[in-house]
Amino acid sequence: MALISLSQSFLTQRAPPYGIGMSTGIRTRDLRKTYTSPPPLASGGGFGFSAARGKGNKQPKPQIVALDGISLEVLPGEIFGLLGPNGAGKSTTVGILTTRVRPTSGQAWIGEHDVWAEQVAVKRLIGVVQQRPNLDFTLTAREILLFHGAYFGIDSHERTERATTLLERFKLTDRADQMVRGFSGGMMQRLAIARAMMHDPQVLFLDEPSAGLDPQTRLLLWEIIREYNQSGKTVLLTTHNMEEADALCQRLAIIDHGKNIALGTPAELKASVPGGYLLRLRFGQHSPEMLQRLQRLAGVREVRPIANNENSADVYADRGGSLVGEIASLASAASVELCDVHISEPSLENLFLHHTGRSLRD
Ligand SMILES: Nc1ncnc2c1ncn2[C@@H]1O[C@H](COP(=O)(O)OP(=O)(O)O)[C@@H](O)[C@H]1O
Ligand SMILES: [Mg+2]
Repeated sequence: MALISLSQSFLTQRAPPYGIGMSTGIRTRDLRKTYTSPPPLASGGGFGFSAARGKGNKQPKPQIVALDGISLEVLPGEIFGLLGPNGAGKSTTVGILTTRVRPTSGQAWIGEHDVWAEQVAVKRLIGVVQQRPNLDFTLTAREILLFHGAYFGIDSHERTERATTLLERFKLTDRADQMVRGFSGGMMQRLAIARAMMHDPQVLFLDEPSAGLDPQTRLLLWEIIREYNQSGKTVLLTTHNMEEADALCQRLAIIDHGKNIALGTPAELKASVPGGYLLRLRFGQHSPEMLQRLQRLAGVREVRPIANNENSADVYADRGGSLVGEIASLASAASVELCDVHISEPSLENLFLHHTGRSLRD
């Protein structure tokens, strides 16, 4: 609540830089990005990597296609999600939209501003939370917010007030004057988001904002993002978490291997899956044979053992409830106890599986 009123007063006290209080949209046209050096650190994201030997070069030059023609239109005032597995190109898209990554070809706009050509104007309009928090460990939480506010030219009284409100909203007040060095990952993440909101940007980019947050903090974050959006702001967030995309985003683009594979509201996307049930099973004991038999039941598309929990498995199938009886009989014939069954309706996870044959969680 506090953030909404603060944000409104902030808007009325300062003329918005572009347009009269109008929200700002985001657009990309056929964005392509090919990296020609390996990723900074082995980042776990599977990447297509083909070595091309340039004339006279001793070293093979990698050609990593991160974006393969992404066109998007995010409406002003929308919470828009980019959903995709690791390595899909989400961070590269955010990098291009926030002036940090130069596209190999294609164009991107924030409002009317071409991102690469008008970087200064664009930077005034956006707030960014990168995937890895990049906070100065030698500053306190409050200092980080105040310095950021000063950088954006907010006067001293206003920035002090804003910092206090944001620290409170993100439940960081009791640690406000301690150095960031001692913060947990979740606290740093909250602070990074507060910092991105400090100058009240028209467009907020959040790259995997809730990765590493506990469930309670994740809910707090969702609430804050919705509030921010209700004050007229555009939010683009990336996630590989379908529950998050479903709960928070008004529209989504699902991307994989640098391409947009589906676009729509969560409800539209889910309705586009022909069958798409997920049955989460827990057995009394580990039985690989049981899993093989499940695979052969009519309508079962995939049986996936759950990591760290060898008695459990996820079954992706065209039908839900009608499978339970058959699974129970299989288990009983194999003398394996069926302890728990949870059926979920068609979901974004299942949509991804349907489009790519793979799970989002890979
Ligand atoms: N700075 C970089 N240099 C080289 N390759 C990169 C760099 N950043 C990302 N990549 C590669 O580009 C692809 C897309 O990565 P990224 O945009 O980070 O995907 P996501 O955020 O969806 O996990 C991956 O194959 C990744 O390894
Ligand atoms: Mg990423």
